[in-house]
Amino acid sequence: MSAEPTTRARGAANREKILAIRAELPAIHGCLYLNNGTNGPLPQRSHDALIAAATEELHEGRIGATTWARGVANADAARAKFAALLGCGTDEIALTHNTTEGMNIALAGLPWERGDEVITATTEHPGGLYPLYLLKHRHGVRLRMTEIGLVDLDPVEELGKVLTARTKAVVLSHVSWATGMILPLRELADLAHSVGALLICDAAQGSGMVPAPVYDLGVDAYACSGQKWLCGPDGTGALFVRRDRLAEISQSYIGYAGVQGGRSSHEGYYIPPPAASRYEAATLYPPSVVGLNASLDWLADDIGWEWIYARIAELGRYCYDALAAIPGVTMVSPRDPRTGLTHFSLAGIAPADLTARLAEQQIVIRHTPHPNANRVSTGFYNTEDEIDQLAEAIAVIAKNI
Ligand SMILES: Cc1ncc(COP(=O)(O)O)c(C=O)c1O
Repeated sequence: MSAEPTTRARGAANREKILAIRAELPAIHGCLYLNNGTNGPLPQRSHDALIAAATEELHEGRIGATTWARGVANADAARAKFAALLGCGTDEIALTHNTTEGMNIALAGLPWERGDEVITATTEHPGGLYPLYLLKHRHGVRLRMTEIGLVDLDPVEELGKVLTARTKAVVLSHVSWATGMILPLRELADLAHSVGALLICDAAQGSGMVPAPVYDLGVDAYACSGQKWLCGPDGTGALFVRRDRLAEISQSYIGYAGVQGGRSSHEGYYIPPPAASRYEAATLYPPSVVGLNASLDWLADDIGWEWIYARIAELGRYCYDALAAIPGVTMVSPRDPRTGLTHFSLAGIAPADLTARLAEQQIVIRHTPHPNANRVSTGFYNTEDEIDQLAEAIAVIAKNI
């Protein structure tokens, strides 16, 4: 299926740019790909860089005079690129394998006691929720469930209803994977901090989709995926931990990077490095870091973050309007979408069945469990024409129900 980008939104320069972007993304040409929230497409250059690094390992071996130093430099570069993206210090970034790992690190590291409370929401993803289940079973932590993330509720008001002096952490997403709502993190963080709780944020849907200046957002920890909005390889991600929270969030795992200078006394005394890299116990597959860096460079330097954020917001609005106009469609996302996630349902057909019906036409969307709805996820590389094609396909299905 070919999709010719239109310039409805922003003129010929935009069209050229979108064509160049699309030429870098082989995975979006064999189908109508509208599921960036699950996985972003891997750019050709990132794949090439990853393969070149893997080939070098194959022929030169995985350890040699320069290999170790090169791996360290690549990891340092990746931390620096995440720090630039999030507006924080490089020393506040730990490289991880995904968002779920980051959430586990931040949550397992707090000094839990029986009866402590943690506030979260039924709309949260298992990547943030399941680590909390572990805390409940291991430490007797009390889970306070809210419905934050549903569009007819004010998140700050809902948090205020359940916050207590026993609340140790508030665990919420930047952008809800269930409704596409952007949560007002600054206000939520201020409220959490007013009782001494930390805001641990699941940013799988967030980093790379919307601006994420972590200090302005007020978050204490912010867990990112490399493989979604950052178009990196699988098995990449990062965790931001605010500098002044390092002491509060203990290491649950420890490896070379967890001990300052890589050495400890044989009595077991050690000093962790004054940086979030202390949480990195399992090193990333080195070629994946090379691929990730290539993706981050492409996004930041060749395309530009401002352009990306504006384009995602623009397509989100376009998508909302296109879907809302179809008879039988009920919108689940907020009315003023500024995100790449647009949720809806179609009367007379279960979301899973609609996903399957569209997949038969090589149109890739997904459905989410709570609220049970379909989700269209538009990346910066999508076009208005593609959204029109989707809307047309849904309208035809709607007519024939
Ligand atoms: C909100 C949210 N959190 C966490 C995850 C899991 O991400 P990862 O595979 O990077 O752990 C997802 C994936 O879809 C998600 O949407």
